[in-house]
Amino acid sequence: MPIRLGDIAPDFTQDSTAGPIHFHEWLGDSWGVLFSHPRDFTPVCTTELGEVARLKSEFEKRNVKVIGLSVDPLRDHNGWAADIEETQGQKLNFPLIADADRKVSLLYDMIHPNASETFTVRSVFVIAPDKKVRLMITYPASTGRNFAELLRVIDSLQLTDRHSVATPVNWMFGQDVIIVPSLSDEDARKKFPEGFRTVKPYLRITRQPGV
Ligand code: BEZ
Repeated sequence: MPIRLGDIAPDFTQDSTAGPIHFHEWLGDSWGVLFSHPRDFTPVCTTELGEVARLKSEFEKRNVKVIGLSVDPLRDHNGWAADIEETQGQKLNFPLIADADRKVSLLYDMIHPNASETFTVRSVFVIAPDKKVRLMITYPASTGRNFAELLRVIDSLQLTDRHSVATPVNWMFGQDVIIVPSLSDEDARKKFPEGFRTVKPYLRITRQPGV
């Protein structure tokens, strides 16, 4: 069965650089980012893992735990971690799942045989504290991801979960937001006492709540 938005993220137990991971237990009450990369000792993946390590405090600020995965064995992960530190100036500070038996990759449909029979594509899953999948993105092996975009979407998810708003194109934290169409003008006036601007009856703009 394919995984869809709103589904419970499949649970698993698998080895990692931080010891065996029981996924749901490891997530606890945090948000989670599970991302796969094609192979250890490859250039694009090396830069990605360095960047995720650099952004650790940004993920932590948002109560997000990050975990990487490839189908390489643990001894390769451990050897590669030294290269990441040497070349990216960043110690690997989050677990990397060693999915040599492809258990997790298959569970999360991270191997796309028409792209590669053997290696995982660059999949990303964002998982909320209730364990529901809230975002899925798939990139090809040749394109490194933009992890700032991932933080931006997490900001949007966390904001829109708390308030009756949605975020417009290219929104960044602190910018104006859209009031969800299901909220009446009367209720919107109560919820957003600073007011809102009606561009069209279905397009009402207000300041981002909580800043
Ligand atoms: C890389 O991470 O550099 C990479 C991995 C697989 C194919 C192409 C590039």
